[in-house]
Amino acid sequence: MLFPTGAKIRSSRSLRLTLRFVLPLVAALTLLAYLVVPLVDRLNLRWSVRDMDIRSQFIAGTLQEPLGELLEQGHKMKINTLLARATQDERLFALGYCDGRGRLLYSSPVFPAQLGCSPPKPSDSESPLVQLPQGLVHVAVRPVIVADVPRGSLVLVHDMSFVQHRSADTRKYIVLLFAVLGLVISFITVLVAHLSWRGWMNGVRALLRGEGLVRPFAKPVDSELQPLMGDLRSLLRSIDAEKRMADDTTVAWTPDALRTLLYEQLAGEQIMVVSNREPYIHMQGAQGIDILRPASGLVTAVEPVMRACSGIWIAHGGGTADREAVDRKDHVRVPPDSPEYTLRRIWLSAEEEQGYYYGLANEGLWPLCHIAHVRPVFRTEDWEHYVTVNARFADAVVKEAQRDDPVVLVQDYHFALLPLMLRKLLPRATIITFWHIPWPNPESFGICPWRDELLRGMLGSTILGFHTPFHCKNFLETVERYLETRVDHASSTIFRGGNLTLVEAYPISIQWPPPWQDSQPSVQQCRADIRRSLNIAPDGFVGLGVDRLDYTKGILERLRAVEQLLVNHPELLGRFSFIQIAAPSRSVLEEYHSLESRVRALAAEINLRFGRGTYQPVHLRVSHHEPRDVNRYYRAADVCVVTSLHDGMNLVAKEFIAARDDERGVLVLSRFTGAAHELYEALIVNPYHIEQTADALYTALTMPAFEQRERMRSMRDLVRSFNVYRWAGRMLLDAARIRQREKLAVRIGVQP
Ligand code: F6P
Repeated sequence: MLFPTGAKIRSSRSLRLTLRFVLPLVAALTLLAYLVVPLVDRLNLRWSVRDMDIRSQFIAGTLQEPLGELLEQGHKMKINTLLARATQDERLFALGYCDGRGRLLYSSPVFPAQLGCSPPKPSDSESPLVQLPQGLVHVAVRPVIVADVPRGSLVLVHDMSFVQHRSADTRKYIVLLFAVLGLVISFITVLVAHLSWRGWMNGVRALLRGEGLVRPFAKPVDSELQPLMGDLRSLLRSIDAEKRMADDTTVAWTPDALRTLLYEQLAGEQIMVVSNREPYIHMQGAQGIDILRPASGLVTAVEPVMRACSGIWIAHGGGTADREAVDRKDHVRVPPDSPEYTLRRIWLSAEEEQGYYYGLANEGLWPLCHIAHVRPVFRTEDWEHYVTVNARFADAVVKEAQRDDPVVLVQDYHFALLPLMLRKLLPRATIITFWHIPWPNPESFGICPWRDELLRGMLGSTILGFHTPFHCKNFLETVERYLETRVDHASSTIFRGGNLTLVEAYPISIQWPPPWQDSQPSVQQCRADIRRSLNIAPDGFVGLGVDRLDYTKGILERLRAVEQLLVNHPELLGRFSFIQIAAPSRSVLEEYHSLESRVRALAAEINLRFGRGTYQPVHLRVSHHEPRDVNRYYRAADVCVVTSLHDGMNLVAKEFIAARDDERGVLVLSRFTGAAHELYEALIVNPYHIEQTADALYTALTMPAFEQRERMRSMRDLVRSFNVYRWAGRMLLDAARIRQREKLAVRIGVQP
C-alpha cells in the first residue's frame, strides 16, 4: 500500500502524542520528587527534634522531685535504678546525672561514655543531634534544682533512629504519590487531548472541504472552533481571491505561462481530456486521407491547452479513416505535422452513436439546456446508450491513467455521468468538468426524466465549470431543488456523498495570439480576395456570419435582419452583401435537416427579392471551412454578426476580434451569448427583435473609423488577457489548490 490508512495514521499520532507529552511529564515529576524529598526529610527532622526537646523537658521535670530526694539522701544505687527505669521508655536511650562541676556521677546502663557531661553545644534547633556509632541521638541537658538550689544537670539521650525510618517511609510514599499523580495526569491529559484533537480535526476537515460553509444540514462544528470558523473561512476566501486578482494582473496568459503553471503547481500530474468531438478527424478523401479540424468551439479552446501540457485526449473516433491512423492502442500523435500530445480514439457502434450522441445528447440535452424553442426528445433507449458510452469512456480513462490521481478535464453535456463513474474508479482523481452550453433554470431542467441521475453524475466532479455566474446560479438552484445535498451559495459549493464540488464560472476563450498571426495575408489582401471570389464590388460592404448550422445560432433571424436592413435602407442594395458560412452539423437529425432547408430557402428568397444582375445580397456557404480560411473572411468583413438565441459563450465573436489586428470592423452580438457579458463594446442586440438587429447592422456599416478603432481596441485588450490559457489556467490553478488542500488533509490524518 502506497499510503498509510487513516486508522494507522491516527494510532501512530496518538502514540507520538503520548510519548511527546507523557515522557516529559514523568521526567518533570521525578525531578520534583527528588526536590521534594529532602525538604520533607528536613521538616520531619525538625518536628522530631522539637518533639524530643519537649519530651526531654517533660522527663526532666518528672524526674526532678524523686531525683532531688535521692540526691539528698545520697542513695547511689537507688539513683542508678531510677535512671535505668526511666530509660525503659522506648525512645529514651540513656540518662546521666552530672554534678555542678560537670562530673558524671550517675547514669543509666548504656550511657555513651563519649558524651560525658559536655555534649556538643546546640547552635540551632537541629544541633542537639549527635552521630554516635550506635546511631543518631538527640541530647538534651536540663538543670536539676533541689529546694531552689541548683544541684547539677540531667543529660537525656534520645534515640533518633526512628527519624530515619520515618524519612525512608515518607520518601517511599512521596515517590509513590508522584508516580500515581503522574499516571492520573497523563491519562486525563491524553484523553482530553485525544478528544479535542478529534474535535479540531473534524473542524479543520470541515473547513478544508468547505462543509463549514454549508449551513442548513451541516453537523455543528465543535464549539471551540466556532468563533474561528468565520475568520478562517473568510481568510481562505480572501487569500484565494487575492491570489486570483494578483494572477490576473500579473500573469500574462500564454502557452508558456500555462506550462509554467503546470510545472509549478501540478508538477508531475497527468492531464487527461475527455470529449466527444476529436480535435483531428481523418477522412477518406478522393486523393487519400484528409485531416480535418472540426467546427467546434470546444476543440478551438481545448486544443491549444493540450498542446501546452502534452497530455492525452480521449475522444470518439468518428472519421471515416480514423481507424487507419491509430496504433495498436488506438493512439495517434497530433497535431499531424508536429505532434505534441496523444489522441486516444474510442470506437462507437452506429447504434451507440445514434443513441448517445444524436439521441440523448443532441435531441435531449442540447435543446433542454438552450431553451431555443425546440422541444427536447427523451427516449429510454437513448438514455441506455448514453449510460453505456459514458461507462466506456470511464474505462478508457482508467486504462490510460498512469497514476491514481490524474487531473481529468471532462468536456460538455455528452459526459454528465462520467464524473461520478470516475470518482468511483479513481477516487483520488481531480475531475474538472466543463459544461460548454448554458444551464437552464430548475423548472426547465426538471422536465428531463433522468435529471437526478445527470445531476448526481456531474457532482462527482471536483470542479464544475460554466461560462457565466448566471449558469452557475441556475445549476446550484437546480441541485437544491431536486437533490438532497448541501448547497452553499456563498462559496458556490455542493457537498454530496462525501464529495465536494466547486461550481465556478470560467469564461472560455480563444488562443492568443491567433495561430496564423505571422502567416496570414494582410487585411487589404483578404478584403480584395474574398470580394473578388464572391463577385462583390471591391468597395462593397460585407457582413459575415460563421456558425455551425444549428437552430440555436439564430441564422434565420439574422437573415431576416439582413432583409430588413435592405428594406429600411434601399441605398445599400448592390453595396451590401452578407456572407453566411454554415458548417453542416448533426444533419442526420430532422431538426437540423429542416433548418438547413429553411436557411437555404430564406437565403434564396432574399436573393430573389433584392438580387440585381450579378449582385446577390446573401452568399450562403453550407460547407466545412478550415479555421485558417475562416480567418480570411473575418479579416475581410466590415461587420460580423452573432445572433445566437442562446449560447454558452460563442467563440466566433472572439475569433473575429482576434483576427482584426487592423482595429477595424464591428461586432453585432446577441445579448443571449456568454460573450455579451464580456464584450461590452460590441453592438448588443436581441436577435428575436429583427428591426433592432437590422438597425444595429446599419449602425455598424456607418460607424466612423475612430469609433470602430476604440471599440475594437478595447475588445482586443480583453480577449488578449482573457484568453484560453487563462480559462484553462484558472481551472487548473483552482484544481491545484484543491489538491494541495486534500494533500494537507491526508497529512494531518483526515480523509479529504
Ligand atoms: O457548444 C457546445 C459544443 O460542444 C461546442 O463546444 C461546439 O462548438 C459544438 O457543441 C460542437 O458540436 P458537435 O461536436 O456536436 O459538432
